[in-house]
Amino acid sequence: MTKALEVENLTKEFKGLTAVDGISFAMEKGETVGLLGPNGAGKTTTIQMLLGVIKPDRGSIKIFNRDLEKKQSEILEKVNFSSTYISFPWRLTVRESLSVFAKLYNVKNWKEKANQLMAMLEIEHLKNKGFFKLSSGERTRVFLVKALLNDPALLLLDEPTASLDPDISEKIRKMILKIKKTRQNYYFIHLSQYGGGRGGLRQNNFLVKRKNCSSGNSQKSKRNSA
Ligand SMILES: Nc1ncnc2c1ncn2[C@@H]1O[C@H](COP(=O)(O)OP(=O)(O)OP(=O)(O)O)[C@@H](O)[C@H]1O
Ligand SMILES: [Mg+2]
Repeated sequence: MTKALEVENLTKEFKGLTAVDGISFAMEKGETVGLLGPNGAGKTTTIQMLLGVIKPDRGSIKIFNRDLEKKQSEILEKVNFSSTYISFPWRLTVRESLSVFAKLYNVKNWKEKANQLMAMLEIEHLKNKGFFKLSSGERTRVFLVKALLNDPALLLLDEPTASLDPDISEKIRKMILKIKKTRQNYYFIHLSQYGGGRGGLRQNNFLVKRKNCSSGNSQKSKRNSA
């Protein structure tokens, strides 16, 4: 099977702290995986390395069978992500922000695409609203529109329902499932804390354990069935 992603012995240290300690995992074509672990386990650091935002100290990342370090810009054209840790410029409207991302990703017919996605995520009425005026649930949906704008083949979702109330969280979960059904060619990675993601989103889980500094235990990702 074609591997969408292969991570080998990925390690990241921040001034004496081992944030990610030698994790290895792979994703087959069409698979959806969850990367689970407690706070501080290294999930967000891992996603940042997969996006080329930070460089690993050791290990390798292959996306679509290509080395991320060597083919970064080519690979990242087909990747996108959603995270509640990011923000859009506060003064811009939703539409203006999306137009900036559309230019960055070189999206053709971006207006049509953005309108379709906003309709799917039920936020059409927010398009002319300033980002700073949005509620956190509305922002999460706007981040999802941004994440889907370039038709990514690999979509990384860093806790897409974190800090949302149960109703909105359930709605977003259903929307992601809907997107998965309509876009069969997508690969998804869904990151969450233990128990954070409800059923249905993931096919396989990998566990990321927090480094035990005192005993020096090595951290390994482990595959579990969802
Ligand atoms: N830029 C940084 N500089 C120093 N330490 C960092 C940096 N980024 C992350 N860390 C540390 O690395 C560890 C892993 O952080 P990370 O954000 O990857 O965890 P996480 O699994 O995403 O946690 P959460 O569930 O809380 O989102 C934490 O101990 C964190 O304090
Ligand atoms: Mg995180």
